[in-house]
Amino acid sequence: MQRKTVAEIDLAALRHNVQCLDDGKSTLIAVVKANAYGHGMLRIAEELVQCGVKILAVAFIDEAHTLRNSGITQPILVLEGPLARAEFDWMVMHNCWPMLHSQEQLDWISPHRVFDVPLWFKVDTGMHRLGFSADEIMTFFAQPQYAKIKENMVLATHFACADNPEDPFSQQQIDAFRELHQNFGCPISISNSAGHIHELASGFGQSDYARVGITLYGCAPNNQAEVLSTRDLHPVMTLKAPIIAMREVAHSEGVGYGQTWTATRDSTIATVAIGYADGYPRHASNCGRVLVNGITCPIVGRVSMDMITIDVTDVPCNIGDQVVLWGESNRVEHIANAMGTINYECVTRVSERVPRNYLNPYCIDKKK
Ligand SMILES: Cc1ncc(COP(=O)(O)O)c(C=O)c1O
Repeated sequence: MQRKTVAEIDLAALRHNVQCLDDGKSTLIAVVKANAYGHGMLRIAEELVQCGVKILAVAFIDEAHTLRNSGITQPILVLEGPLARAEFDWMVMHNCWPMLHSQEQLDWISPHRVFDVPLWFKVDTGMHRLGFSADEIMTFFAQPQYAKIKENMVLATHFACADNPEDPFSQQQIDAFRELHQNFGCPISISNSAGHIHELASGFGQSDYARVGITLYGCAPNNQAEVLSTRDLHPVMTLKAPIIAMREVAHSEGVGYGQTWTATRDSTIATVAIGYADGYPRHASNCGRVLVNGITCPIVGRVSMDMITIDVTDVPCNIGDQVVLWGESNRVEHIANAMGTINYECVTRVSERVPRNYLNPYCIDKKK
């Protein structure tokens, strides 16, 4: 018996999103860190590989281990790089591309060594989180014993404000990057999802390794669902939970912990089997919206560990009906906005106790 609280993962939507993001100009790197943004890393990685994605990216070596141990052989870019010399050695032996960003990591590169994998060098062009300054890069490569690395390297940077294409800071970052890059002429990686869909690197005159995460999953990088239609992207995850109880609550009675919501009319309240232990945000208390039989209903009272309560006074429904917390018809962006957070946080927090049900896998599609 499986719990009816479930995250449905539509693999056809994932494949569709890959197609829509693949503009033929840049090489897509599919970011599957953080359990593929909550969608289930292994199943998503397998599906991506089956539909032709050539490179994956994770944050840490542990995630790369998990992929390798499950038989994924594609190159894996490790975005936060190795945190110890042994990690660096493991990566270069296992077709994992280290994104280097600190002086200490440079010390792990033996002089005159030729690597089978490209070494990635992250440049800090203004994000000020990780990366080398242009001077540090130039100083490193001025050393003749590292000359060979230039033949198989990627220069990368990360946008700070790409979610707003009007923000001039992205152009400043590109300009700084270009100035350094002209000394190398090597492959580049600039764009995340926002940079990619807004084509911010298109003026660079060179193909970009685009590191796309959130848009693969049909979520908007700027937390505004409208932007998804520009590329016809569709949400991959639908989070659902059943109504497990219903009751009448009289005018002026309260609902839930702290009695933070009081009925302003005689109301019908449905209790739904999902709570913050499932990753449904507690901040949605008294402000979230869910869909019941296609009709929007407000969350009333506090989100508790395993349950929420919703006002279904005007909505025909019964115990057992599946409520949509977010998905195609109730976008996670709207919920995230209402709660003052972002869709990235909502999807990555769906907890392990919520089963992921994978729909429309590639092999079934192929048989059609
Ligand atoms: C260095 C780097 N590149 C790419 C990504 C993917 O970003 P997005 O999910 O916005 O596409 C991330 C995400 O955090 C990142 O840290």
